[in-house]
Amino acid sequence: MAKSSSSFSCTECGAKHSKWSGRCDACGAWNSIVEDKGISSGPPSKSLGARRGSSIELTDLATQETPPSRAQSGIAELDRVLGGGLVPASAILVGGDPGIGKSTLLLQAAAQFAKSGLKTIYVSGEEASAQVRMRAQRLDLAEAPVKLAAETNLRDILTTLEAERPQLAIIDSIQTMWADNVESAPGSVSQVRAAAHELTSFAKRRGVAVILVGHVTKEGQIAGPRVVEHMVDTVLYFEGERGHQFRILRAVKNRFGPADEIGVFEMTGGGLAEVTNPSALFLSERGQPSPGSVVFAGIEGTRPVLVELQALVAPSPHSQARRTVVGWDSGRLAMILAVLEARCGIPFAGLDVYLNVAGGMKISEPAADLAVAAAILSAREDVALPAETVVFGEISLSGALRPASQTENRLKEAQKLGFTSAIAPRGGKAVGVTGIALNTMSDLTGFVGEIFGAG
Ligand code: TYD
Ligand code: MG
Repeated sequence: MAKSSSSFSCTECGAKHSKWSGRCDACGAWNSIVEDKGISSGPPSKSLGARRGSSIELTDLATQETPPSRAQSGIAELDRVLGGGLVPASAILVGGDPGIGKSTLLLQAAAQFAKSGLKTIYVSGEEASAQVRMRAQRLDLAEAPVKLAAETNLRDILTTLEAERPQLAIIDSIQTMWADNVESAPGSVSQVRAAAHELTSFAKRRGVAVILVGHVTKEGQIAGPRVVEHMVDTVLYFEGERGHQFRILRAVKNRFGPADEIGVFEMTGGGLAEVTNPSALFLSERGQPSPGSVVFAGIEGTRPVLVELQALVAPSPHSQARRTVVGWDSGRLAMILAVLEARCGIPFAGLDVYLNVAGGMKISEPAADLAVAAAILSAREDVALPAETVVFGEISLSGALRPASQTENRLKEAQKLGFTSAIAPRGGKAVGVTGIALNTMSDLTGFVGEIFGAG
């Protein structure tokens, strides 16, 4: 007989532990370790080889497979992030901070899918039906043929879905679902894992598209459902700053389309409105050219997006100078500062450096390197960059500039928005782009010399 041993897992990262402790040594979170109940963790008592299974049918890679027929919501920003529409039998996780607008987005999506003829069920485990109806009224969606339920009992939900056979089921949220065959509380790792497993296998078995909502905790991971990410086909995150009206829906994993695609929305009194030209929105608050401000011509997924980077460099009153970044990677900032010091001889010791991506946007492209360096230098030297100029390019540790992908698309977008010049690494392909003066450089020292007259 296998000894029944308890096992513990971290609600932040899902790591397994043999005993409880106050801190997860895998991710460093405090008080996140809970006991797993109801899911056996010991070794199986008999080897699988002891009894023969039935043989499975093997196919060739060349087997003809028609691409999935996708359903469009008509919300272009959402359809694009999904990879061109909703794929039947797929499981989608929509994560985001509480209050960021997930329920609003999904209610709007549910209404649009239902109007386009998809049989849609929206199950809320967080709000009463009356609350959801009130929201629908406020969003002017009350006429949409969406079926609604307020329920958390997974068994009842699955029975209902089994009987109703919708084409789309939205579960808001996975943390409120309760599987009665698992002993622990809703929101715990085992519950979330069990509920997601049941719902995704239901999606596959019955050809139903299932959208799961998951809340992100303060630490930046969905409570528990790191465990969910690998079970679903598509992982979307809904992000944005509370103080800003922009919201960005970002695909971080998509088995049916490109990852890194973004959709941009604006939170209005009447719900989420699509932003078809995000660059114009992100640049709308930009004033006169000023030191520390640089426009980066970025690419998000398949789409060019211009954003403003703002830097501030000031003598530090602290013994250890501050490096603060909003919207970009702080490790990457440290790297750029090190390259500026080592390759261009520009010291940052004793200086606080602040970097902010305007509009609540987050960027992760290495092509932002040169724009970051330009913003920091411009702030440090108190010299504004030439007006109507965009900057992009990756910086290597040697100080060389590497061409960025999709140079043409970046330039075309900049030109469309009225920019007249661009600073970019030498070697990027830019055929057929007219109306914008392209200033190319091969290393950071050259850039510093040319733009700031130093180096
Ligand atoms: P919600 O969709 O409930 O967030 P989540 O499901 O991610 O927790 O959105 C909550 C916020 O959105 C709430 O603070 C109010 C705001 N909101 C608007 O500004 N306009 C609207 O039309 C709606 C429905 C919500
Ligand atoms: Mg909600």
